[in-house]
Amino acid sequence: MRPLRKIIFPAAGHGTRFLPATKASPKEMLTIVNKPLIQYAVEEAIDAGMDQVIMVTGRGKRAIEDHFDVSFELESVLRSNGKQQQFEQVSQISRMVEIIYVRQKMALGLGHAVRCAEHWIEDEPFGVSLADELIIHDIPAMQQLRDVHEQTGCSVIGLLEVPREHVSRYGIVAYKKESENLFRLTDMVEKPLPERAPSRYAIAGRYIFTPRLMELLREAMPGAGNEIQLTDSIARLAKEEPVYGIPLQGQRFDAGTPLGFLLANATLGLADPQFGPELRKHLEQLICR
Ligand code: UTP
Repeated sequence: MRPLRKIIFPAAGHGTRFLPATKASPKEMLTIVNKPLIQYAVEEAIDAGMDQVIMVTGRGKRAIEDHFDVSFELESVLRSNGKQQQFEQVSQISRMVEIIYVRQKMALGLGHAVRCAEHWIEDEPFGVSLADELIIHDIPAMQQLRDVHEQTGCSVIGLLEVPREHVSRYGIVAYKKESENLFRLTDMVEKPLPERAPSRYAIAGRYIFTPRLMELLREAMPGAGNEIQLTDSIARLAKEEPVYGIPLQGQRFDAGTPLGFLLANATLGLADPQFGPELRKHLEQLICR
């Protein structure tokens, strides 16, 4: 088995659930406390030992490239003003990892976005991470998947248990339990009605795939919403070879929606050593008013 080094970040969607903020700014650049979502996700991947990043972007997504690029002017201003700490903070972003940018010319679906990175994957296993799903845990979510991938050599998908009334927001899996925390996936359905959902386990925006998935994506046809759905090709893969699901440990925020974004900011803000104490005081005053 080839070692797992590559990871794809699809970031070319329209972000319609977060308009008007996402009209001209990428959803992936929404900020939780003082860091954009995409930086959290890239750091998570690096912490899990994945050092070849392929970012799938589209029109209006230049801010992502700029964020990971060198910022000569800003860096020289910070340095000449003696702001060493901020200088280090800014300059290390451009050094953290090599990124290849691929363009998805039209937002034809998540499966299509992943397929756009095909040329860079070759015959290797690869990760896929959706940055608007923020997952916070001491063991990075991608590392949790990686551990199972290394034990099994198979594709592994992060899962999240959701209330039955929320299943129609997610891709939901059918599975056979192999052990307490290891499910063999047998099928998956995109946004089912609660009465049709095969379980309450939703796909949580973190994936590791064998190279076979890319071949299946190449043949994929548009599905729900007339988009090329990643879930359709995963379901096909699960019919050919084992695909595992693991319930992810950690706090998860759907930060691509206004409510999830607010919850993420409140949670991480309160936990922040610099801003937390004052934020707590302020929120307590607001709530007790
Ligand atoms: P989402 O469905 O959450 O993102 O796709 P979206 O389409 O941007 O947002 P809404 O639903 O309209 O609010 C999950 C991920 O897949 C990417 C998105 O950028 C997001 O990170 N994606 C989706 C693409 O890169 N291309 C697509 O065609 C669709």
